[in-house]
Parts: sequence; structure tokens; C-alpha cells
Amino acid sequence: MTVLSSPGLLFGPGGEAILAGMRAGLEFLDSRDTGRLLERVGQTIQEIPPVAPVEKAALQDSYGGKQTEPCDDLLTGRGLFYITEQRRLCLDCTSGHYQMLWGYNHPRLCAAIEEAARAGIVWDNHAKIPQTPVKRLAQRLVEAANPPGEPDPLDTVLLGCCTGSVACEAALKMQLVCFERDRGDKATPAVVVLDGNYHGTDMVPQYLRGMWRRFVTHLEVVTVQPNDADELRAAFQRVGRRAAAFWAEPVMMNREAIPVEASYLQLARRLCDEAGAAMCLDEIQTGFWQPEVFAYRSMGFVPDMVVAGKGMTAGFHPLAAVIYRSRYDVLGQYDAITTNGSASLPSYMGLCVMDMLASQAGRVAAVGDRFMQRLSALAEQFGGVLVDARGRRHLAGLKFRRVEDAIDFHRRAVAAGLWVRVHAYHEGHSTVLTKLGLPADEQVVDFIVERFESLLRP
Ligand SMILES: Cc1ncc(COP(=O)(O)O)c(C=O)c1O
Repeated sequence: MTVLSSPGLLFGPGGEAILAGMRAGLEFLDSRDTGRLLERVGQTIQEIPPVAPVEKAALQDSYGGKQTEPCDDLLTGRGLFYITEQRRLCLDCTSGHYQMLWGYNHPRLCAAIEEAARAGIVWDNHAKIPQTPVKRLAQRLVEAANPPGEPDPLDTVLLGCCTGSVACEAALKMQLVCFERDRGDKATPAVVVLDGNYHGTDMVPQYLRGMWRRFVTHLEVVTVQPNDADELRAAFQRVGRRAAAFWAEPVMMNREAIPVEASYLQLARRLCDEAGAAMCLDEIQTGFWQPEVFAYRSMGFVPDMVVAGKGMTAGFHPLAAVIYRSRYDVLGQYDAITTNGSASLPSYMGLCVMDMLASQAGRVAAVGDRFMQRLSALAEQFGGVLVDARGRRHLAGLKFRRVEDAIDFHRRAVAAGLWVRVHAYHEGHSTVLTKLGLPADEQVVDFIVERFESLLRP
């Protein structure tokens, strides 16, 4: 079969050279084991021919569209490693933007995509005729969401949401429709949220974190500090039967990796039951990053709704989901879906992801535990600079005492080839964040911690 054009031609002028660089980069990554790659992290890889990157003035400013210095974006990646356009080898410590569960282009997932196409799995189709992978993924999500023998299971799934933002907004719509169904349309619903929450980029979920105040009315947002039980009790007491929902992330990856305690969420569960409010867990960050699939499964309660995305397809877009008790199943076909598709191939990726997670559950947990233990030891060793190590397993943060130190550490870590993120741009935030992909082994964990240690040394 003839291909329309080579990727090099599609890349535009200079594209063939970029393609050659990309291929050489992939060859470099594929022909070395983890140990040999770690030795070269931070170096310029001379084995790859230099490329003149495509410039990005056509992109929006927040994506670097107005950048004046030469581009140094991603040339290619494999597993936990990627090579930049200026040929630097980096170790991705945050799984892309927190979604590349199995790293870049995992060979097993790449093979699965080809196998799926050969087997007749389509990329997408109308939501009313979901193909087998969609229906099976819905079943697997229901299984993962419920403890064995759960008397009131989360038994319904809204799949086919393009991104987590769409899924979060869908969950909120369900809560508000049910509120009105159960309490009439006179009372103003109240939604209790954690300070520093992030439930996506749609307008009303952004209102939950303080944006668009002028434009949203008749919805009260009650913001409480995570893990403050008294404040939570007082909030529910104040709004009483107007409480429509409580939202939380098990680890606040958008607020300094604060782990939300099991006892606090159990209390929220009881308060939601008393008030008749929906308990909604946003597991877009945490989901699929532990053997139990969802973080809440080891925390001693069951929410009414859980939102999943990001890692669910290991970055193979698009797919997010809401898993919920059927009494919340109140939206119509066009109320909360994207392009009306059902995303068969991404759903198949979701099945593969869950299969890989199940087969490596013990290893994943052990590596995550080792990472947290070693970061905690580091926080003790450098107690003058660090407050603590926080988060859970792969989703971890190092909280600095001074914001300038966090920013400086972040800059030096990136310069040394460790792609980490920093929360330092809101008042009081001073945390460097990691979210290791699941292929990380003990060697990778030890490498990161040792590099951190050398960066922390005066
Ligand atoms: C906790 C949480 N909820 C919702 C979202 C929105 O997901 P998406 O970016 O896929 O729309 C994100 C994205 O980072 C998130 O971290």
C-alpha cells in the first residue's frame, strides 16, 4: 500500500532532517538498557545528528508561541526517557503531564495498537453502537470501583468523555440535576470542595476553584482546607440539606501533592450520607497508579462517583469516564459527551493498561513504597531546607521551606536532565513534584533520589 507522504515531508521544510534525528534518537533509546541510559541523563547525545526544530510561533503564547530562544521541545521518547530537540537526554519524572502511565510509547502498548487494528477494533464510532472494548472497559471499571460484595455498587459508567475536564463537568451536572430532582428548584445547591482543588478547565468546575465568579450564580461553593475535620463538619452543618456534593482528590497533585487522609474522607462520606449529598472523588491523577486501580479502594470508604482519565489510556487520547451509582444516571445522550463517539481503540488501550497493572501489581507497589521511603529519608537528612516528603508512592512532592529554594532546585534539576515540576506560584506553595511512570524500577528510584541529594547539598 502506498503511503500518502513520508513523515519527513509532512513535517515541512527541514522535515527529513528532523525525521532522521528522531529515528536516531529512538535507536539510541532502544539500544541501551535503563542503567546505560541513566549514565547519560543530562548530557547532549552526540550520536544523534543535530536538527533544526520546527518553530512554534503558530502556537498560543502559553504553549511557548512567543518564545524567542531556540526551541528545545521533545524530539522523541521511549519509556521514562526522552530526548529534546537540542539532543539532551532527560528522565521524565512526571510522566508527561501526569498521564503517561507506562512512559512514552511502551513497546507492549504499541504492539497492542497494531494488533487491535488487525483484529478489527476501530478507532471510534457512534456512541449508540459501542464496540466490544467500550462495553468491556465499562465492566472492568465497575469491577475496579467496588469492593467485593458492595451492597450499593457503583454500577454505571459514562465513557467516551474526551478529557478529564468533560468528565468532571458531567459529574457536576449529574449532581446538580439530582439535587434539583430531590430538593426542588428553590434551594441554592452548595458544593463542598478542597482549597487548591483542580477539576479541569470547564467553566463551572473552574468556578469551584474561584474563577468566573461574576458569571456563575445560584451555586454556592464552600471551600475547606484538606484534612481539617472540624472545618469540614462546620461546613456541612452550615449548608445542611443544601449540600449537593463533596469533591476531593486523594492526592492533591495540583496543590503540592497534599495527601488527603483516609479518616478525613471517611468523615466526608458520613457527612454526605447525613446531608444526602453526592461524594465525588476525582481520581484523574491518582487512578491507575496503584494495584487497586483507584486510590480510595484502600482507604475504607466508597464514594458515589469517581472520575477517571489521564492514566486510564496511558496518554493514548482521548478518554475519561465517570463511574457512579445508577441513581445519578440522569444525563441524556447529548448532555455530556464529546463528538458523540465511543472511543473504541482508546477503550482497548484502557483494557491493556489495566491488564499490565494487574500483572505487575506487586512490583508497582514495592517501587512506589521505596520511592516514598527514600524521599522521606531525604527530607529528614535536609530538614533545614525541606519541610517534608508528601504524596503517596509514585505521586510525590518535596516541600521546601523557602519558595526561592524550590524554584532554584527545580531549575537545577531540569538542567541536570530530571524533568520535574514545581508548585511555587501561589502564595505558600514551594513543592517540587514527581509522578513516576510505572516502568520505574528500583534503579530509577535510587538514581532520582541520589541526584536530588546532590542537588540539595550546599
Ligand atoms: C485532578 C484533575 N482533575 C481534572 C483534570 C482535567 O483533566 P483533563 O486535563 O484531561 O481535561 C485534571 C488535569 O490535570 C486533574 O489533574
